[in-house]
Amino acid sequence: MPIAPNNERSEFYARLKTKSAAPLWEVLSDIVRKDPRTSVQAAFWKYDEMRPFIAEAGRLITADEAERRVLILENPGLAGMSRLTQSLYAGLQLIMPGEHAHSHRHTASALRFILEGSGAYTSVNGERLSMKPGDFILTPFWSYHDHGNPGSEPVVWLDGLDIPTVNMFDTSFFEKEADHDHDEEGAPVAKFVESSVMKYPYDPSRAKLAQMAASGAADARFGVKFEYRNPQTGSPVLPTIGAWLQLLPKGFKGRPYRSTDATIFCAVEGRGSSTIGDRTFAWGPRDIFVAPSWHAVSHAASDEAVLFSFSDRPAQQSLGIWREDA
Ligand SMILES: [Fe+2]
Repeated sequence: MPIAPNNERSEFYARLKTKSAAPLWEVLSDIVRKDPRTSVQAAFWKYDEMRPFIAEAGRLITADEAERRVLILENPGLAGMSRLTQSLYAGLQLIMPGEHAHSHRHTASALRFILEGSGAYTSVNGERLSMKPGDFILTPFWSYHDHGNPGSEPVVWLDGLDIPTVNMFDTSFFEKEADHDHDEEGAPVAKFVESSVMKYPYDPSRAKLAQMAASGAADARFGVKFEYRNPQTGSPVLPTIGAWLQLLPKGFKGRPYRSTDATIFCAVEGRGSSTIGDRTFAWGPRDIFVAPSWHAVSHAASDEAVLFSFSDRPAQQSLGIWREDA
């Protein structure tokens, strides 16, 4: 029930404003809501429509000039805010053959999910990790990282970072790594490693889904789904971001599910559609879509399909505020 304005109150509010103060009762129902009401919109990016823009960025700017050549996927409900959800940033990064994006570190943590091309690598604190489609790579906060492409084809990946979360706390720091020894490709010397807590290659992850599908019934909401976990600690992959891989059997029609963590999905294999609130998106490999907080999400698959997803669930859970409506 809105509080009726009158001249005396309005005059009081005006005097309060001169003291940098405001009446709570005028805003209480906006700032302490009965349930989540978000500006984040359900949204969808078809990879085939974005690919020409990625190629154009490759012609217009070098990786060297750009620091990182990335097209930010910006939520249409948060225009100009460089984010896909309130807490997470996502973007499509391109590295062309022969390019090297030099080493830096920042307090924001990152994940990469490789979409297209092979032959590039990401180095994290001196470990060089090769990248191919479906591989999932981490860059935890304040770790030096660079990207290089000594191969022969453009490589594109989905970046996910907690930049808005870090900036909400006003804790952003960034620095470039000082020049040091370089190898013949112009990249910092780093050792190739294939086994690392920083990398979750696609093949074993995909095999795990197949094994789970063979050994048990699919969940009515998620199909067959696992969360990537740090193999040494058993914790979510980052304190601020969790990530999942799920398989939807051919013909799957999932029941709706909602939770408070707005979730970014990337289709990996197969075709299907997802209904988020009152919108339905038909997707295929490499398409990306986002579900806002507390919106019912249901997936359907016409072929056997695989979806990658990530959200700020670990951050919400560590604060004790995460909620689901199963
Ligand atoms: Fe970075």
